[in-house]
Amino acid sequence: MKDKIILITGATSGIGKAAAIALASQGATVIVHGRNEQKTRETQKEIINHTGNDRVDVLVADLFSLAQTRKMAAAFREKYNRLDVLINNAGGIMGNDREVTSEGYEKTIAVNLLSPFLLTKLLMPDLKKSVEGRVINVSSSSHRLNAKPDFEDIQLINNYNPMRAYGNAKLFLIMITQYWTKQLAKDPANRITLNSMHPGAVHTNFGVDSDLGRLLNFLGKVARPFFKSVEEGADTIDYLATSVAVKGVSGLYFVNRKPAEVSQKYMSPEYEQIVWDFCENATG
Ligand SMILES: NC(=O)c1ccc[n+]([C@@H]2O[C@H](COP(=O)([O-])OP(=O)(O)OC[C@H]3O[C@@H](n4cnc5c(N)ncnc54)[C@H](OP(=O)(O)O)[C@@H]3O)[C@@H](O)[C@H]2O)c1
Repeated sequence: MKDKIILITGATSGIGKAAAIALASQGATVIVHGRNEQKTRETQKEIINHTGNDRVDVLVADLFSLAQTRKMAAAFREKYNRLDVLINNAGGIMGNDREVTSEGYEKTIAVNLLSPFLLTKLLMPDLKKSVEGRVINVSSSSHRLNAKPDFEDIQLINNYNPMRAYGNAKLFLIMITQYWTKQLAKDPANRITLNSMHPGAVHTNFGVDSDLGRLLNFLGKVARPFFKSVEEGADTIDYLATSVAVKGVSGLYFVNRKPAEVSQKYMSPEYEQIVWDFCENATG
């Protein structure tokens, strides 16, 4: 792994931080992204001290913002001329009241779908320079449990609720992973792969600050101690980033290192196209 360059978003906490530690331990150059400069620098120091690998760099951007996502990609490209693995991990669930970003996008969609889409698009040329560029999109089994998309109202202007918005966004992330794979397969010289994954129910800060209503807030608190550890949650990310077993494998959804079935309820080329077009239009 020593010659690999890996960028991981949302590496200041939870699954992302555990994945960054695992990958830095194997000697890769790891760029940790966070939205708070001080917290990201502290994470960088912690990972260097923990792993003894000083090739740990930082990028700071609030991924609610597409403008900041663009700046982040530009900052990466200024310093590095190749990317081997992009891990779109930053994400989360919002609260009971629908909120929009300063650019006018519903927040769950902005951070879990639009920002990863844009970052991947902007870094495609850098992934192309790798002998086998890999993109790992951290999705969720919530795409199966909570998604109920209205393809005429992708941003849930009507009938928003946080679980539905989150399930939809993670479903859309799987859809664009599949769509992108099909697009890239048209180029016989393509070596880039994209896969999505579900880390399991993991004991992290996920949902801690989101007001999901009294019942779900209570259930989350009670259940959290029984969840997987962050190291267990990061294991499939580590596997997808490093294993030769997934060389050339693309467009799949992994759980516990194995390809798993994606909910087919809303899967169709037409719906994939709608989601793709939404992302393209939003990100220019
Ligand atoms: N935990 C689970 O059970 C579970 C299950 C399925 C899927 N997932 C997915 O796993 C991924 C990691 O979540 P986690 O469980 O590790 O939660 P977490 O501990 O809350 O970590 C989320 C990470 O994303 C960052 N982030 C959130 N919003 C951001 C924004 N607007 N701009 C930049 N960074 C932002 C956070 O930064 P801060 O440190 O600044 O907050 C943090 O580094 C997410 O995509 C989540 O949807 C989690």
